[in-house]
Amino acid sequence: MISAVRWHGDAVRIIDQTLLPAEYREIDLRTLDEVAEAIRSLRVRGAPAIGIAAALGLVASLRPFLDEEPAAFRARLERHAATLRTTRPTAVNLAWALERVLRVARDHRDTSNRGPWERMRAEATAILEEDQELCRRIGEAGLELIPDRGVVMTHCNAGALATGGIGTALAPIYLAAERRRVVRVVVTETRPLLQGSRLTAWELQRAGIDVTVISDNAAASTMPRLGVDLVLVGADRITARGDVANKIGTYGLAVLARHHGVPFYVAAPYSTFDFSIESGDRIPIEERSAEEIRRGFGTLTAPEAVPVFSPAFDVTPAELVSAIVTDRGVLRPPYTESLRVLAAGRAASRG
Ligand code: MRU
Repeated sequence: MISAVRWHGDAVRIIDQTLLPAEYREIDLRTLDEVAEAIRSLRVRGAPAIGIAAALGLVASLRPFLDEEPAAFRARLERHAATLRTTRPTAVNLAWALERVLRVARDHRDTSNRGPWERMRAEATAILEEDQELCRRIGEAGLELIPDRGVVMTHCNAGALATGGIGTALAPIYLAAERRRVVRVVVTETRPLLQGSRLTAWELQRAGIDVTVISDNAAASTMPRLGVDLVLVGADRITARGDVANKIGTYGLAVLARHHGVPFYVAAPYSTFDFSIESGDRIPIEERSAEEIRRGFGTLTAPEAVPVFSPAFDVTPAELVSAIVTDRGVLRPPYTESLRVLAAGRAASRG
C-alpha cells in the first residue's frame, strides 16, 4: 500500500500529489516554509493526511533549533504551529493533530529542548500509526454496507493518498477486495482539482479494483444507469449534530442520492469530529484561488479576470446522511444521540 506521508530520517516524506497521475514523485520536507507550502498547494491533502503532515512537519521544522534557549524555542514552537494551523481551515484534523503535539511539549517542560522535542516526535509518530489502525477499523465497520457485486459511487479522494493508512471511504472497498468480493467503484472527477480522476482512479486502478471515472455533471443520470447501490464519501469536519463538510460537490451528490433512493454514507475517524460546534454553518469553508478555475492546470478555461467564486468544500446537512462509518462503528440518525457516545469516548481517551 502506498504511503502518503511518513518519516524519512528527520524529514517528512510525501508523495507530491499535484503531479499524479502523470508522475509519481516523493519529496522530503524539512522547513516550516516547505511543510506549509506543501499543505497549501495540496501536494499532501485529505483531512487525516494533512493532520499527520502538520504534526510530523512541526517536529521536523524545529530540528535545527534544538540549541536555542528554551524560552525562545517554546515561542518558536507556538509560532510554527500557528502558521501550520492556518494553511487550510476546513479539515479539523489539522488543528487536532497540532494540538496533540503541542500538548505534549507544554506538559513536558525541561531545561533542554531535546527531551520535549523527542516526546513531540513520538507523539507525531503515534498520530500516524494510530491513523493506520483507524482506517482499518473504518474499513471493517463499513464492510456491512457494501452488497456483494455492489456499485459504490465516491467523490474526491478519501483513500490511501488522503490518510496514513488505507483511507476512510475507500477502506471498506479495499477490505471487500481483500476478501475477494467484487466491487465496482464509480468516481466523480471532482472539479476543479480533479482529486477523483487524478487520485482515486489512480490508487484504485493500481490496487486492481474496478473503477470508472465520470464527469461531475454525469452523476445524476449515472446513479440509475450504472445501478449505483450507495454513495460513500469522506469528510473534513463533522459537527455535533452530524452536518458534514467535505469536498465541494458532496452536498449535490447527497441530494441526488436522496432523489434516487440511494443511501448516502460518510466515513471518518474520530479526529474529524468537531463537537465544539452544533451546526454546519459554523464550519469555516476554504476558498481557493480564482486561477484554479480560470486557468485549470495551466490552460485558459475562463476569460482572464472574470470574477470567480471557488469554495473548496460544502456542508451536507445531517438529514441527508444515511449513516456515518467511524472507527467506533456505524452511527445512525439521530446523530445528536449517536455522536454523544462517540464524544464521551473521545473525552475519556483525551483525543
Ligand atoms: O481539498 P482536499 O483534496 O484536501 O479535499 C479532500 C476531501 O474533501 C476528502 O474527502 C476528505 O478530506 C476526507 S479524506 C479521508
